[in-house]
Amino acid sequence: EQKPIIVQGPMPIEAENFAEKLNNVEEEKSGTFVFYKGTVDDYPVIVTKTGKGMENTAAATAVAIEKYDPAAIINQGTSGGHDPELHVFDIVLGEKTTNIGSLKTAHKEDGEGIEPRDWIPMDLMASEGSAGEDPDAENIRYFEGDETLLEAADAVKDTHEKGKVVEGTIGSADVWNNEVDRIQWFHEKYGTSVEEMEGAAAAQIAKAYETPYLGIRILSNNKVNGGEYNPNTAEANQDYVYEVVKEYISTI
Ligand code: 5AD
Repeated sequence: EQKPIIVQGPMPIEAENFAEKLNNVEEEKSGTFVFYKGTVDDYPVIVTKTGKGMENTAAATAVAIEKYDPAAIINQGTSGGHDPELHVFDIVLGEKTTNIGSLKTAHKEDGEGIEPRDWIPMDLMASEGSAGEDPDAENIRYFEGDETLLEAADAVKDTHEKGKVVEGTIGSADVWNNEVDRIQWFHEKYGTSVEEMEGAAAAQIAKAYETPYLGIRILSNNKVNGGEYNPNTAEANQDYVYEVVKEYISTI
């Protein structure tokens, strides 16, 4: 039996274009999550409209794995640039994905203020003890993109003509950063190429079930180099991810 490939998109503009490319589509709902079950080249593919943010994405990922036992999960959509070399319409393949909202603050007493630059990455998967006390948890957790999915994405890079396709690091949190100094802090400390609000949640749950995972994110904006928000990037990313899925299907 063929295990389906799951393609996730948070917003309607990030999922519905791909859903329209599927053949023999059936729609299923679970909570607020919409699963468009269909085929690409006669292979089962399920597009999920997850909704925005880490919680929706984590839950939609767990539900999808339990219900559909997928061969692989691709989380895709728009993002904001952290790397000044990347422009609106460029695409980042998540060689790594990391949670940039999981932080421990420094110790400060009454009246000593708030110093975000002193905040310490906190790895909730480091141990079963208290993450606030455990020095092993003072660590950036990177989720690796699956090699076979990365190879498929690499093989069809040239089909994306509106920008370049690069491998990089995707940072996720339920935060939209508009402070350039803060964005630069993440770029330097975590090596982030882009930020968005879902990838690390999907990657963490995929890892919990040992399901192959890749994040694919197009820049819809880049605060660091003046790249203005363009919603048309969402469709361009789905066009590219469709090529990735076809390539992946041809190799498995
Ligand atoms: N910061 C955070 N999220 C962003 N998104 C696009 N650009 C950014 C950005 N600069 C995506 C998120 C979320 C929605 C608000 O758009 O992933 O789904």
